Formats: sequence, C-alpha cells, structure tokens
Amino acid sequence: MTGLAVLVPGGQGQVGSELSAILRSRETLVHAPGSAELDLTDPEAVRDAVDAFAEVAGDAELRPVVINTAAYTAVDAAESDPERAREINVAGPASLAEACRDSDLPLLHVSTDYVFPGDADRPYEPTDETGPRTVYGRTKLEGERVVLESGARAWIVRTAWVYGAHGGNFVKTMARLAAQRDALSVVDDQIGSPTWAADLARGLLELAELVATGTGPQQQVLHCTNSGSTSWFDFARAIFTALDLDPNRVNPCSSAEYPTRTPRPAYSVLSGNAWQHAGLTPLQSWQDALEAALVADGEAFRHRG
Ligand SMILES: NC(=O)c1ccc[n+]([C@@H]2O[C@H](COP(=O)([O-])OP(=O)(O)OC[C@H]3O[C@@H](n4cnc5c(N)ncnc54)[C@H](OP(=O)(O)O)[C@@H]3O)[C@@H](O)[C@H]2O)c1
Repeated sequence: MTGLAVLVPGGQGQVGSELSAILRSRETLVHAPGSAELDLTDPEAVRDAVDAFAEVAGDAELRPVVINTAAYTAVDAAESDPERAREINVAGPASLAEACRDSDLPLLHVSTDYVFPGDADRPYEPTDETGPRTVYGRTKLEGERVVLESGARAWIVRTAWVYGAHGGNFVKTMARLAAQRDALSVVDDQIGSPTWAADLARGLLELAELVATGTGPQQQVLHCTNSGSTSWFDFARAIFTALDLDPNRVNPCSSAEYPTRTPRPAYSVLSGNAWQHAGLTPLQSWQDALEAALVADGEAFRHRG
C-alpha cells in the first residue's frame, strides 16, 4: 500500500500545525500552507494549489487527501465582520470542495460545536438538529453544507474547545493569568470537551487513511473531541494543578457575571458514537490529554512573563 500525501490549508493554525508536525515525523508528503501562501478566498489560487498537489501526489504514487483546517475562528470579531467570516468559512470551503471534486481528491473539513444551539442536556449526535446562535456558528454550518453539496468525496469533522502548542487558547490564557493575578474567576455553567489539537490531528489522520483507500465511513458528518466533559471552571482548575499551581486560586462564576459579546453555548458536548461506529479510535479522556499535552509541549504552554 502506498503512503499518504496531505494538503492542509490553514497549515499554520493550531490544528494545521499539529497535523503537519505529525505528518513530517512520519515522513509523509505534506503541504501545509498558511493564509499568506494559500488564501482560501482566492478561488483561482485554490484550484491551482489543489491541481498542483494532485499532480505531485500522482507523480509520487501517493494517495492524496485534503484536510481543511483554515477558518475564521474569532467568535466575537465575526459578529462585526460577517462578510469576511462568510468569505473564509463558506466561500473558501466551497472553492476548495469544487477543486477537490474536479481532481477527485477526498476532503476532510473541520467544523465546530458552535453549529448547535448549545442548550442540550445530552451529547449532540452528528444527526441532531443544528441551530447556531452566532455569526461564526452560522458561517461554519453554511460551510459544512456547501462542502457536502459540492459533489466532492467529503467528510465533516466537528470538534470543540481546541488547545495546542501553536496559537492562542484557553490553556495558555490560564497560564498567563496565573502569572499576573493571585486569583481569577472562570465560568462554571458552560460545559464542553476540551480537545488537544495533537489528538484531534491523529484522529483526522486515521480518518484520512480510510478515505484515501476508498473505505471512508458512510456517515459524512462525524464528531471528534477528547472524551468526557467538564466546565471551563473545572478545566481551569485542572490546568492549574497540571502546572503545579494551587487550583484554589480559581473561583467559579456564572456566564451572567462574565458577559461576552457573543453568547457561548451552555452545553456543547459532542457525542463520539458515530466516530466509534465508523471504526475510528476514540480520543483519550480530556484529563489524560491535558497531562500528555503538558508533557509533550510544556514550554509552549507555560507563560514566560
Ligand atoms: N479553536 C477551537 O477551539 C475550535 C473549536 C471547534 C472547532 N474549531 C475548528 O477547527 C478548525 C481549526 O481551528 P484552529 O483552532 O486551528 O484555528 P486557528 O488556529 O485560528 O487556525 C485557523 C487558520 O486558518 C487560517 N486562515 C484564516 N483565513 C484564511 C484564508 N483566507 N485562507 C487560508 N487560511 C486562512 C489562519 O491563518 P492566518 O492566521 O495566517 O490568517 C489560521 O492559521 C477550524 O475549522 C475551526 O472552526 C476550532
């Protein structure tokens, strides 16, 4: 069996960086352009990049897959810039999916728990009714639809609460605030599944192996997060403990006491049932993932002052 060749638009982001690091360590052919090298909102550039990648993979007799991790991810900023969010989260994926369809390349497209209203009392299944409450969520949902309707061999992988060594995220924010303040308050009424970008990347690659051999799951929308769920408050306490800091410096507060410009889902746990039914390996618990992340990339997460 020949190896994979993977094109990763958004290759400099949290998830894209992890994907490209893992692929390089496996000596897989990977092209992981950042937005400066491949702007998803430029349809011609997208088509040229996909065509060139298909040719390189073909010449090397490798099995090509595209994994789209590029997105407009600034949830609050999207409210005042919906056109840009739509360009990147809808028009970009549409161009990419059309180019993949025409070059017959399978596409994995990463999406989010924000496509749901966030008021459930049990984990969301991929088939559950969506109902985004934000511009970010609405554009991501529209992006899912254009990808699925493009005619490409495409799969949507929704994830949530991502943190990794590259880019800003909650773990790094907690480490920074711990260095700046004696105590801090974190909301305890929003529940989700913290997900280590490296675990998500490994999950995406397991799926990529299947789709590249034509044995991708029938179910085209899947959920992939670390297993288990928690509140931001308990996650913050776990981060403090993992960083050898006193978790009692973190106090609980309600979302009403910590208003954000955009509503955050109260409950957005994603069920991994469909992932498992597809024969894919469930990701480890969020607690084990946090410990592993700090062992693997401790320096990247610790605040340097
Ligand atoms: N972070 C989370 O908590 C979370 C939760 C659920 C789902 N997700 C989803 O997971 C995926 C990856 O997210 P992430 O956390 O890795 O986000 P990220 O760190 O913000 O990375 C997204 C990347 O997209 C790139 N990008 C933005 N505009 C682009 C354009 N016009 N053309 C090409 N690339 C562009 C950005 O590159 P530049 O910086 O160079 O512009 C950035 O590196 C996204 O689909 C996101 O919706 C994330």
